[in-house]
Amino acid sequence: MNALIFGITGQDGSYLAEHLLERNYGVVGVVRRSSVDTLTRLPHHVINHSSFHLVEGDIIDYVSVLSAMKSAEEHWNDWPHEVYNLAAQSHVATSFTQPQFTWQVNAQGVLNILEVMRARHYITHGTKFYQASTSEMFGKNYHTWRGAKYQDESVPFAPCSPYAIAKVAAHNAVSMYRDAYGLQGWCGILFNHESPRRGLNFVTRKITHYVASLSHALEQDTCIPKLQLGNLEAMRDWGHAKDYVQAMHLMLQSDEPYDYVVATGESHSVREFCEVAFAHVGLNYQDHIEVNPDCLRPSEVPHLCGSPTKIQNYLGWTRSVDFKSLVIDMVEADL
Ligand code: NAP
Ligand code: GDD
Repeated sequence: MNALIFGITGQDGSYLAEHLLERNYGVVGVVRRSSVDTLTRLPHHVINHSSFHLVEGDIIDYVSVLSAMKSAEEHWNDWPHEVYNLAAQSHVATSFTQPQFTWQVNAQGVLNILEVMRARHYITHGTKFYQASTSEMFGKNYHTWRGAKYQDESVPFAPCSPYAIAKVAAHNAVSMYRDAYGLQGWCGILFNHESPRRGLNFVTRKITHYVASLSHALEQDTCIPKLQLGNLEAMRDWGHAKDYVQAMHLMLQSDEPYDYVVATGESHSVREFCEVAFAHVGLNYQDHIEVNPDCLRPSEVPHLCGSPTKIQNYLGWTRSVDFKSLVIDMVEADL
């Protein structure tokens, strides 16, 4: 089997490449041009693997998507069996300051990939496609059961950031290509997933990286400025990225293309995340953080808690890492 991955340099791309190489896939990853090295999250054993190959491409540019896909075909002398689109401007706060750019990558970029797949006859050859949809698409919508709020596949989308608006457009495009052209396309509606490879500007890694820096500073009897955060009451359903790339792969091994929520079913606040992370090094978070209004967003998704019932029942997926273990894994890695 072989797979083409857009977004190979990201958190999920790096774990997915590892997951597929362990299963004897040939993997081609698409990297966009940058003035600095963006391969730092890919472990050496992936980069040096004989079945791993990189090609250049930017999903904003149709021509470059076309040439990336042709290069993959030439490399394998075969069609891609699976195409994963994990590429995105994935930072929600940035989408408020760069809305057009976010739209170009997260919506138009997906159309570029789908159109190249059509032009190269991948759809008629049965290439399977994965699109990285997101719980942000639900916005402020949820169902309730016995007073508890949760989101599943039946909750209507109500996007409340430029990021989420573009993701809903891409999600709908995949659905339309399924109906119109018979695309074998799955959308994973993934809730937040984190790891030691998470970017430093997402709240979890921002916290664990700070905790490690503070802990080292205190050992040397020095101090560092307090950690500046925004909304501490936001509730998120946080899982481990390693579990979530397994879900992506499982989806594409099934026969019927559906949309699946991938989540833990538990929700915790940013405040609780701080509490556990600081406590792991024997500190009280309240002594070391400050709320900075500059870190607040123009509009916010207040509460995310996914129901993974469908993917559990249909595909047998379950998470293996709980909230506390995730936080500790990230703090330990940063230490
Ligand atoms: P990430 O770490 O930010 O990685 C994003 C990847 O997209 C990077 O490899 C980045 O390349 C690439 N990329 C950005 N713009 C591109 C372009 N124009 N052309 C080609 N590649 C481009 O994100 P992640 O956490 O791994 O998430 C993967 C996907 O899942 C994203 O689509 C995200 O929106 C979605 N998602 C994530 C979560 C989560 O909690 N992590 C939850 C739901 C959905 P550079 O390295 O060059 O920047
Ligand atoms: N980034 C950040 N920085 N977020 C903060 C901060 C801060 O200083 N302080 C509080 N927060 C709050 C945010 O307002 C948000 O409610 C929550 O922490 C999580 O923020 P992020 O870690 O930036 O993630 P996100 O939930 O906005 O988006 C992530 O998850 C989505 C899935 O629900 C990203 O990975 C998206 O790409 C993904 O689609």
